[in-house]
Amino acid sequence: MTGSRIVALGHYQPPKVLTNDDLALVVDTDDEWIRSRVGIRQRHIAEGETLVDLATEAAQKALAASGRTAAEIDLVVVATCTAVERSPNTACAVAARLGISSPAAYDINTVCSGFSYALATADHAIRAGAARTALVIGAERMSDTIDWADRSTAVIFADGAGAAVVEAQPEGAEPGIGPVLWGSEPERSDAVVITGWKPVISQQGQSVFRWATTRIAPLARQACEKAGIEPSELKGFVAHQANLRIIDAIAGKLGAPDAVIARDVVDSGNTSAASIPLALSKLVERGELTTGDPVLLFGFGGGLAYAGQVVRCP
Ligand code: UT7
Repeated sequence: MTGSRIVALGHYQPPKVLTNDDLALVVDTDDEWIRSRVGIRQRHIAEGETLVDLATEAAQKALAASGRTAAEIDLVVVATCTAVERSPNTACAVAARLGISSPAAYDINTVCSGFSYALATADHAIRAGAARTALVIGAERMSDTIDWADRSTAVIFADGAGAAVVEAQPEGAEPGIGPVLWGSEPERSDAVVITGWKPVISQQGQSVFRWATTRIAPLARQACEKAGIEPSELKGFVAHQANLRIIDAIAGKLGAPDAVIARDVVDSGNTSAASIPLALSKLVERGELTTGDPVLLFGFGGGLAYAGQVVRCP
């Protein structure tokens, strides 16, 4: 079974930026509260752009950076919890836009851990010989789910997309995507909910905060163990960008002193399934991570589902 690797990344955020001061005009909040409790400075919010627009832009950039053509893609996976249309799914809509003919194409919804789930299924498909070159996308229009009168969510969630081109490794080469550590705590599924025909997001903030800061670090270490790597050898750690205090708490317990820690939540807010590929793509674009660097990705959130794996940087 041949392993797979990430060949290239791309990301897209809608141009409209909402600062904390902008939000303070709409809900009872202030810059100091948001920065100190969540770490967010600003976020991007889609106006005219649909979810498919966001996903397509990110995918297009990843494809261009990979040097591969649309004709070479035989699998498209989109992680999202904000698709409005039931049919076509987001993956088919993106494939149509990019002129990818006859790919296997499906959406995955495990909310904020979606990208790591999607990456794992693409890796598994390639290992099984069911695909050779995949586009794996995390895309969200979380703004569709926000009640703008609810300050507990309006200041947190945002829109964006990130994408990776993933392909089979040559025979005998080290896999660039490590084994996934995934799971969930379904008995706690009421802790983050997006419900209703016009879906609205709400969460038990403190309870999820405690769960993330106590449960995730040991699971993240297990993901490293599965990949046969010590956390101290990591060059990067990209956690789901939910809250700067959560990211720093997990990073502190992980024991990865040489790792660049992704803190894109500061400029992008919480973009659910898009947050990991968005943050990773930016770190690579800025040259903070380079080819071959081992990076731990770890997503967690609604479900309460979680997933993570060690990948090698493109
Ligand atoms: O991505 C999916 C997974 N989700 C997460 O990982 C989220 C985990 N949870 C968190 O990140 C944090 O719990 C939040 C950022 C959601 C909330 O921060 P917190 O420090 O847990 O605040 P809190 O909910 O305990 O609220 C503290 C106070 C309350 O006021 P009182 O009752 O103490 O008077 C809230 O009403 O802060 C108030 N508050 C606000 N004040 C100003 C809540 N939201 C705001 C706001 N601006 N936006």
